[in-house]
Amino acid sequence: MAPFLSLSVIFLLLQFPFLSLSTNPEGNALHDLRSRLSDPNNVLQSWDPTLVNPCTWFHVTCNSNNHVIRLDLGNANVSGTLGPELGQLHHLQYLELYKNDLRGKIPKELGNLKTLISMDLYDNKFEGKIPKSFGKLKSLKFPAAKQQ
Ligand SMILES: *[C@@H]1O[C@H](CO)[C@@H](O)[C@H](O)[C@H]1NC(C)=O
Repeated sequence: MAPFLSLSVIFLLLQFPFLSLSTNPEGNALHDLRSRLSDPNNVLQSWDPTLVNPCTWFHVTCNSNNHVIRLDLGNANVSGTLGPELGQLHHLQYLELYKNDLRGKIPKELGNLKTLISMDLYDNKFEGKIPKSFGKLKSLKFPAAKQQ
């Protein structure tokens, strides 16, 4: 049974090489985000999910361990909604989504991003309240502009 199974897996990987490369959870999360967004200016064009990780994608920055630490999509003319997948970016420090046409609710899963230093969501069309889960964001610093 076991040898048969592993042969099937190898066969699958040979047939569909992308299967072996699409297991990066942060890349998957970002790709899920892309699938929710309308992107008339093609700012997400480089987001190729067949790459081993998303670290070479434009508007994405990784640390030396290939974990995503920044998402810079401020003023990018994207529209759509955010989903729970953003909560998978466990190393994210900067989430910059300001000045777009994002709608719907702000996902409570953003409260899981314990390493967030800055989150800029202003100038969008979000509805509802700030999720209570944001109380868990202990590293978050308020934007410098608001302290002046
Ligand atoms: C933003 O996208 C819309 C289409 O949805 C387009 O008409 C408009 O020119 C774009 N704005 C900029 C600044 O590129």
